[in-house]
Amino acid sequence: MSELAPSILSADFNRLGEQLKLIKDEGIKIVHVDVMDGMFVPSISFGMPVIKSIRKESDLEFDVHLMIQKPERYIKEFYESGADNLLIHYEACDKLDKTLNKIKDYGMKAGLVINPETKVCDIMQYLGLVDIVLVMTVHPGFGGQSMLENCLDKVNELAIYRDTHALGYRIEIDGGVNKENIKTAVDAGTDVVVAGTAVFSGDIKTNVEELKALVS
Ligand code: DX5
Ligand code: ZN
Repeated sequence: MSELAPSILSADFNRLGEQLKLIKDEGIKIVHVDVMDGMFVPSISFGMPVIKSIRKESDLEFDVHLMIQKPERYIKEFYESGADNLLIHYEACDKLDKTLNKIKDYGMKAGLVINPETKVCDIMQYLGLVDIVLVMTVHPGFGGQSMLENCLDKVNELAIYRDTHALGYRIEIDGGVNKENIKTAVDAGTDVVVAGTAVFSGDIKTNVEELKALVS
């Protein structure tokens, strides 16, 4: 059984609190929160003040995905904003050991994210340190792209590595998930499936019900 984690990047920011409540009422436990800096990725989304504000309205698990250069600069700030999980990119941080440990020292779950061109062998040395591995199934930066399904091979590889090395990280995917491909992602071994457009475009309640039925 896998979990569905809606990404609020595709939500209506004018009605964010209301939409968070709606997905919670549908049984959602994790919400994915995308932070973009206009440097690591071309676009800019939102930062600490927005997270702090929705934290007051929601007790969902905040899975904060930092698409920012040198994320080590902001660990304390995201902790204080209310992040439960802090996910940093392999490609954006040159002090990974130190930063992952710092995230855990604050009591958050530490996540490592890999872009489509990054291989599992590139991050093997960190797998004993992390609570979450997030496999990007699109190039990060925008919602609404098509899934690069070959990235799901890495999910399978990570699941096998976890079992053979008695590790405990959870495996997430992010990007291009829809009703047609979500089952394939789950079958590959994904524990948490992030979905933005597929949840927030159209009728949210129906989308969540249909997607949840496909992951459980
Ligand atoms: C993309 C973000 C995703 C995005 C997914 O860079 O990290 O979390 O919101 O959106 P969809 O599901 O529309 O591809
Ligand atoms: Zn994301």
